[in-house]
Amino acid sequence: MKYLLILSVLFLGVSVSAQNTNKVETQIDKIISQLTLEEKVKMCHAQSKFSSAGVERLGIPEIWMSDGPHGVRAEIEWDSWSYAGWTNDSCTAFPALTCLASTFNPELSYKYGVAIGEEARYRKKDILLGPGVNIYRTPLNGRNFEYMGEDPYLASVMCVPYIKGVQANGVAACVKHYVLNNQEVWRNHINVKVSDRALHEIYLPAFKAAVEHGNVWSIMGAYNKYNGQYTSHHKVLINDILKGDWGFDGVVVTDWGSAHDTREAALNGLDIEMGTGTDGLTSSKDNAYDYYYLANPFLDLLKSGEIDESVVDDKVRRILRLMYRTNMDQTRPFGRKANRQHFDIAREIAQEGIVLLKNNKSFFPLNPETTQTIAVIGENATRMMTIGGGSSELKTVHEISPLEGITKRFTNANIIHAMGYSSGPSVYNRVIASDLDQDSLKQAAVEAAKKADIVLFVGGLNKNHEQDCENGDRKSLNLPFAQDELLNELMSVNKNVAVILVSGNAVAMPWQTKAKAIVQAWYLGSETGHAIADVLTGDVNPSGKLPMSFPVKLEDNGAHAFDELSYPGDGVDQVYKEDILVGYRWHDTKKIKPLYAFGYGLSYTTFKINSASVLKTKFNADEVVKMNVSISNTGTVDGAEVVQVYVNDTKSSVMRPVKELKAFKKVKLMAGETKTIELELPVNSFAFYDERIKSWNLEKGAYKLLIGTASNQIKKTITIDLQ
Ligand code: BGC
Repeated sequence: MKYLLILSVLFLGVSVSAQNTNKVETQIDKIISQLTLEEKVKMCHAQSKFSSAGVERLGIPEIWMSDGPHGVRAEIEWDSWSYAGWTNDSCTAFPALTCLASTFNPELSYKYGVAIGEEARYRKKDILLGPGVNIYRTPLNGRNFEYMGEDPYLASVMCVPYIKGVQANGVAACVKHYVLNNQEVWRNHINVKVSDRALHEIYLPAFKAAVEHGNVWSIMGAYNKYNGQYTSHHKVLINDILKGDWGFDGVVVTDWGSAHDTREAALNGLDIEMGTGTDGLTSSKDNAYDYYYLANPFLDLLKSGEIDESVVDDKVRRILRLMYRTNMDQTRPFGRKANRQHFDIAREIAQEGIVLLKNNKSFFPLNPETTQTIAVIGENATRMMTIGGGSSELKTVHEISPLEGITKRFTNANIIHAMGYSSGPSVYNRVIASDLDQDSLKQAAVEAAKKADIVLFVGGLNKNHEQDCENGDRKSLNLPFAQDELLNELMSVNKNVAVILVSGNAVAMPWQTKAKAIVQAWYLGSETGHAIADVLTGDVNPSGKLPMSFPVKLEDNGAHAFDELSYPGDGVDQVYKEDILVGYRWHDTKKIKPLYAFGYGLSYTTFKINSASVLKTKFNADEVVKMNVSISNTGTVDGAEVVQVYVNDTKSSVMRPVKELKAFKKVKLMAGETKTIELELPVNSFAFYDERIKSWNLEKGAYKLLIGTASNQIKKTITIDLQ
């Protein structure tokens, strides 16, 4: 009876929502029939830097967009890139998406999405330009901090709840940048050549998950080309794959200034053109919007009949559909501005994303009551990291610096601070060296280190050009601004140096063996300093895991193991020569040990995987492997561990990586506690993309399920047979 009731409610639910959908689609058709050609075209391109036009005559609203992806950006002027200077547009700065990925916690991703979506809604935004899910191919990419790491499965699992959370507010998420925008160097024209297999196995899955599981309402094209055509109006990528195979029913938005041709834009699936300048990328002159590819030139082709009206109708239909989901949905909530709850969520994500890389002799946690002298050294101890970085820059209500957080928590300690080095001001697209005297800064730091019991070095990268910043890549894997030299000096005068890296990218660590402890702290947003202090004191037991491999040296990374055509390309073309072997797939398969492996991260407690079991070992393609893993916290403090399951195809007709992540679960365990968790692995996720048949291929035979706590810490193996 109960079952019947549930079933009928379910069917009722389905039919009600199907009815609603039909109603909306009928409404949309009605609206389209009333629009003039001019009105339709106006909806397909920008009317200001961050909005597109509605139709006043019919009460159809404008669409307002905002960056994304780590907070709702400050208001920009109508027709210039300057900030508008409002006083009510400060936001909560959430941790960068690399940090979110490091939590390996999809529940936090949902909280993130809901909270940022609430702020977007409160600020009257209809589209939030995020999340970013481009794959971490090289540690030099200036925008890695905005993305979710090197693994397509991790990025897929982590982006979906963010999208759902944002959209629960009646605000469209806009997953970006579709696709193959994996470096910033030459991003506006580089032509990426990559195998179909790598495209489908590595670069597309997160976008596919965003569409198929996240039901994302909009997607942003990328700047680069793929196989000779710009990605923002690409026949194969948009018409065939996105709108065809995946059935995407939402809106394709350009990246700002990534449209290049009217016919292609019209016919290859672009719906809204943003950011184009008529006299150069993203700079505009009077009435520039009318000169957009999808403005007057599009109208002309429609009027002459060269392009059929059904083409613009499809775009308008998608735009109206997005509106019914957002600004024409009378029932959507009102949102909330930056508030305590949002800061708490930002702090929680930051705490869980911080990765403890090294902890010699339990250096951390430090006693918060200590009366010792702690030297906090490094520019990143005080530098604001919400400023700079490009479009993800934020104006936040507050940003607690690491120094402030540490000072507030270690109330009895004697905290001394020295900058140690200076990187220069934050200026977009240019590097301006600091005019401070670096020798004096260094000397002062060494003196401070001599006096201190403990040195907490807070360095890393920053949001300047050629660091973690849009429109440029890093020049080397090493720490910039002579930090390696400085660290060596500090370590020669003080034996208790711990390094806290604030960055969105892997860095080389020539001083690694001499550091007592190393913490990867990412860009943590408003609550940076508090979250760092929470972890350093053990108020929070670290549980973050690396979402990318840290190579010892640059050439150990797959993209850099070849000539310059692989990275950064020859100025025109670029070939992804490592193919599917991105990140740990490269390290494992080529047997190149990373400095720190994908999925790795320490805790203040210890864990033991006691056993892993499956109910049966023979499976068909449409089945799901249900696995039980028993895990214990064998230490003395509560903590959380991420159980990771990788798959190895023991025999294949094609090359396969040694292992690929297919399931993970974060589990919280009190000291001494044991839990059995269940993980599910759909067998068809073991398939590879077979270029011979242009489709996924799941071959029969034995597959090993490798269960561990990092990609290089496999504790149990189960072999199953696929029939
Ligand atoms: C970036 C996008 C961003 C857009 C609007 C572009 O330069 O690539 O990620 O959303 O600007 O600011």
